[in-house]
Amino acid sequence: MTASGEPRDQIAIRHLGPLKGTIRVPGAKNAVLKLMAASLLADGRYELTNVPAIDDVAIMGELLAALGVRAHSPEPGRLILDNDGDLVPLAPYELVERIRASINVLGPLLTRCGEIRLSMPGGDDFGARPIDLHVASLEAMGASFKFAHGELHATADRLHGAEIALTFPSVGATENIVTAAVFAEGTTTIDNAAREPEVVDMCDLLVEMGADITGIGTSRLVVDGVERGSLKAADHRTVPDRIQAATYLAAVAVAGGELDIVEARPEHMENLLARFVEMGLDVSADAGRLHVVAEGRLHSIDVPTLPYPGIATDYKPLIITMLSVADGAGIVTENLYPGRFRYVEELIRLGANIRTTGHHAVVRGVPRLSGAPVRAHDIRAGAAMVVAGLAADGVTTVSGVQHIDRGYDDLVGRLAAVGAGIERI
Ligand code: EPU
Repeated sequence: MTASGEPRDQIAIRHLGPLKGTIRVPGAKNAVLKLMAASLLADGRYELTNVPAIDDVAIMGELLAALGVRAHSPEPGRLILDNDGDLVPLAPYELVERIRASINVLGPLLTRCGEIRLSMPGGDDFGARPIDLHVASLEAMGASFKFAHGELHATADRLHGAEIALTFPSVGATENIVTAAVFAEGTTTIDNAAREPEVVDMCDLLVEMGADITGIGTSRLVVDGVERGSLKAADHRTVPDRIQAATYLAAVAVAGGELDIVEARPEHMENLLARFVEMGLDVSADAGRLHVVAEGRLHSIDVPTLPYPGIATDYKPLIITMLSVADGAGIVTENLYPGRFRYVEELIRLGANIRTTGHHAVVRGVPRLSGAPVRAHDIRAGAAMVVAGLAADGVTTVSGVQHIDRGYDDLVGRLAAVGAGIERI
């Protein structure tokens, strides 16, 4: 630990030459955390596979333990969840403030237990992350909310179905409405629902458990409530992580070389892959596998972030890093989180030419970055710093590695295995 209490670990990166080899993509953080929360809905034993080895899974496991579901991992990639029905609908501050996905216990516990006390969730450092859509939607289904002393107290004898039209296709709100609606009386429809593959993955598990959900993967979800107790535990394989897959694409894009990225779902990344091809990458995709060849300098493009199937905000730090060394100028427009440009200061320390105004970043590519110490401010920004190190002369050291550990399963080992000059120090 440093004097400020931050872990001392750093990642050191040096450009050694082109990357070559195969990288396996782990399961998605933003899916597995929701699968874990869904286990609150029904008693029994769940087996989740393709579970990434990341800190957020451990924190969510601790939160579930506090709520009454025991989680243990008999071997890497497998997670067993035991729910014997003895639930405590009280999510403590010390755990909730550590991950945003803790908000996902709201829907299951409210519908199952009729109440929940939840500290306001934490998460990443990129501006306000309100939960007004969650609250308004659950109120429309009959829930009452009280906020006091940093805690949300939600109650509902039995929720009822409602017609909900989201003003924005929020991932978390969609997930909480769906889980709450599973035991609501009657039918709940969600228009303008989020369609992210991770939302689909959670809905697929719920259907395997016995929930009645149609329209999965579309922007209109219909949930017919079933009786409490009629759901049963199920086993499920976590969908592959499209953001981690994109990280390895970005790495080879700036370092050059040729990678096979396996156990991926290219169909979940179609828009992104099309943009990477425009930037000059040679990408071919077939079932579960991406083959990418990066030769010569990237070309600049303009990119807006959008809800799925648009270009995800979580890809943006990677794209800005790629544009930092591309030929020409590109404009990146953030449409989800206005404050999500903090890592730009770090890229500028590495010699990038970037100006931000409001929701826009104008990136004028330079031939190479120049290695320096930089800091990871959140998970995706941290991964982008590592990628930037591969685009830089000399050594780049990244601190704030605990953010990367929250969402990346052995980023260092995976990149080192394909020839990157990278180590944890
Ligand atoms: N929003 C509201 N009110 C709400 C809910 C959301 O105004 O009640 C706004 C947010 O402030 C934000 C936008 O809607 O501007 C998007 O929020 P959303 O609810 O869709 O995001 P989330 O569920 O909080 C998940 C991921 C994020 C990812 C976003 C967008 C998890 C745990 N997190 O967050 O992932 O950026 O969707 O795709 O699933 C990450 O993995 O690093 C990460 C931040």
